[in-house]
Amino acid sequence: VPDPTDPLAAGLRAAVGDAHVLADPELRAGYETDWTGRFTGTARFVVRPADTAEVAAAVRACAAHGAAVIPQGGNTGMVGGGVPRPDGARPQVVLSLTRLDALGAVDPVTAQVDAGAGATLAALQAHAAAAGLDAGLDFGARDSATLGGIVAADAGGARALRHGTARAHVAGLEAVLADGAVVSRRNGLLKDNAGYDVPALLVGSEGTLGVVTAVRWRLVPRLPARVAALVPLPSVERAVALLGVLRSRLPALEAADFFLAAGLQLLLEHQRIAAPVAAAPVYVLLECADRADPTAELAGALEAAGIEDAVVADDTASRERLWRLREGHAEAIAAAGVPHKLDVGVPAARLAEFLARVPETVAAVAPRARTILFGHLGDGNVHVNVLGAEPGDDRVDEAVLRLAADVGGTISAEHGVGIAKARWLGLVRGEAEIAAMAAVKRALDPAAVLNPGVLLP
Ligand code: MLT
Ligand code: ZN
Repeated sequence: VPDPTDPLAAGLRAAVGDAHVLADPELRAGYETDWTGRFTGTARFVVRPADTAEVAAAVRACAAHGAAVIPQGGNTGMVGGGVPRPDGARPQVVLSLTRLDALGAVDPVTAQVDAGAGATLAALQAHAAAAGLDAGLDFGARDSATLGGIVAADAGGARALRHGTARAHVAGLEAVLADGAVVSRRNGLLKDNAGYDVPALLVGSEGTLGVVTAVRWRLVPRLPARVAALVPLPSVERAVALLGVLRSRLPALEAADFFLAAGLQLLLEHQRIAAPVAAAPVYVLLECADRADPTAELAGALEAAGIEDAVVADDTASRERLWRLREGHAEAIAAAGVPHKLDVGVPAARLAEFLARVPETVAAVAPRARTILFGHLGDGNVHVNVLGAEPGDDRVDEAVLRLAADVGGTISAEHGVGIAKARWLGLVRGEAEIAAMAAVKRALDPAAVLNPGVLLP
């Protein structure tokens, strides 16, 4: 029970109602540690507002009483950005958006829909499908990840190859700023260049500039005929060359992910299943989607690329089985320990070099660690997972992020910067750009109420 003389508690209770201010450590626990288990801290309170007005009131209460606001959606983040800071000097309040989960009617004319920040990706997908459309975004955490967090992080997933990251789907949004003011642009006009694009600025801002409360989401046509193929390959170079052929010959290409032998082995042991494909150093998982069956088109493209050996899945169950091999990596790794997860992006031309250099780079700072590499081939997006390094030892992080920057890549592709990578932002953003970001932050949130420690060094 919150201390009745605590003005922060009183302010929050007035904002969201007594029942939605959680102070009990047991009730708070699920909000205090992130999905990886690596990032954890203590919140003074977890608050669960019901609507935008309550979010604004809660933010104002935090600002008035010197508390930091930690916005949180489905808590599927992997960079410590949605859980309390371990070293938080100020009281920290987790602002859970999950109750804002309403989905509006799909507008068939614009193919857009209004979604609350707390609606899950899976709920949006089902809602869109019922209207003959598709969310155009997908990843393994779909049942828990919420749209506010997806937009705040600019999440990507496997289908960004065809449809872009979350940013491409945001036709507008509503957000609460650090002073409790509400900005709202949700008329869905794709041509609207009246000045600075504040909603665009909030995409990828990781809760540091505003709390996203609702999104106007752009849907895409639903393509019901789908086929997937798992292609074993002798090298990463061959995988990149394959992608080159597919890009020009396979307009139905929707996703091109990859994993390696070590990751598949770990997953097969974890899921207790047998390998569905011949052993190889590299595996590429492709998905095509179209109005009519794209299987022949896929087969033709694979032949043109000189591929003789692939497992093709043209029904939903076998397609999902293949995708579990790729999407199951995160869980198989988590079951083996607390990983360092480094989500980086590298140019296709240097992907093979990067992947070859990661193990030796990690071994130089953590000789007993092992490295599992997988990700989204089509975007050069590599998930570097390091098992067996101390969770607090960030030499591994630094070494991998420096390597990504050295090959012309980025330190964050789709998971965000969070607290995990903030100190290395300078590896991929120049001084002037970081100064501009800091100036925006100071202007919108001078007292650093919103998600302090995230994103900016
Ligand atoms: C994925 O591609 O599976 C997700 O980004 C999660 C992860 O990297 O573990
Ligand atoms: Zn991913």
